[in-house]
Amino acid sequence: MKQLIQKLTETFSPSGYETTICEVIRKEIQLQADEIHLDALGNLIARKGSKSKGGLKIMLAGHMDEIGLMATHIDENGFIRFTGLGGIRAAALTGGRVRFMDGTPGVISSDRLTDLAKTPTLDQCFIDVGASNRKDCPVKVGDVCAFDRPFLDLGNRMIAKSMDDRIGCVVMIEALHTLKTSPHEIYFVFTTQEEVGLRGATTSAFGVDPDIALSVDVTSTGDTPKGSRMEVALGKGPAIKVKDGGMLADPRIVNWMIRTAEKAKIPYQREVLEGGTTDARAIQTARAGVPAGCISIPTRYVHNPSEMVDTRDVENSIKLLVALLSAPL
Ligand code: CO
Ligand code: ZN
Repeated sequence: MKQLIQKLTETFSPSGYETTICEVIRKEIQLQADEIHLDALGNLIARKGSKSKGGLKIMLAGHMDEIGLMATHIDENGFIRFTGLGGIRAAALTGGRVRFMDGTPGVISSDRLTDLAKTPTLDQCFIDVGASNRKDCPVKVGDVCAFDRPFLDLGNRMIAKSMDDRIGCVVMIEALHTLKTSPHEIYFVFTTQEEVGLRGATTSAFGVDPDIALSVDVTSTGDTPKGSRMEVALGKGPAIKVKDGGMLADPRIVNWMIRTAEKAKIPYQREVLEGGTTDARAIQTARAGVPAGCISIPTRYVHNPSEMVDTRDVENSIKLLVALLSAPL
């Protein structure tokens, strides 16, 4: 599992540029899926099984994209100004490294700050790729990059860029590999452009037209010094979403998830996240509406270059997903 996490988190694919990660994931699932196709927005849609007695059409959504930066301006000395792809905060940037899709590495710094007590704003930041003028700068306006950080295995904890949401993709891939029998027709959808507004989930939910849906994504925690007042912590099990900033999970789905976790003796936490949302929000309001919920992997430092998860939470998320898919509701 850790090798797969390393492979997925060390792949560069910011929103809109998911073809690289899509090929990596396709190789991991092609032997187990009954049918695989891509839709027009690049969502990777893998079907497993078909509906039998007591079964439903279930859509699972984990997003393949990661937050990134897009070049907006190159100055005469070759410094690159940029805009964020997804929720980028300047506080997470300076001193960090990025890599463009053609492999060009760069470092992020900022204009001289007059007030050292303040963090720079996004437009005070720039990327330096070692160019000396506009002409020899290999980066063009519109080129995109993502954080460049290697995967770190600390045993019970793991750190990487893009745990959001490659760890959700890993949970789905491992569940597909582990699942033996199911009464359901299951669509494992690896979505695009989540970080810029749930766009892949919007089209894939319309296309799949599921009976119920779950997103598999990260959630924040409240377990760091002077952290937010949130009940979720690393190591206490997968979080079952009740509410986030964009959706109220369907209570029937929440109950089904809690019932299943208790029956299978899998630790779990109830999640209320005050800001942020997931693909489930877009799926819930697709067509005439879809009962939806979310399995969340508790994650510290979300949208930073070093996002941390607990290894046992990941394993228990896979177990919970397999248990949910193995029996009728
Ligand atoms: Co995110
Ligand atoms: Zn996410």
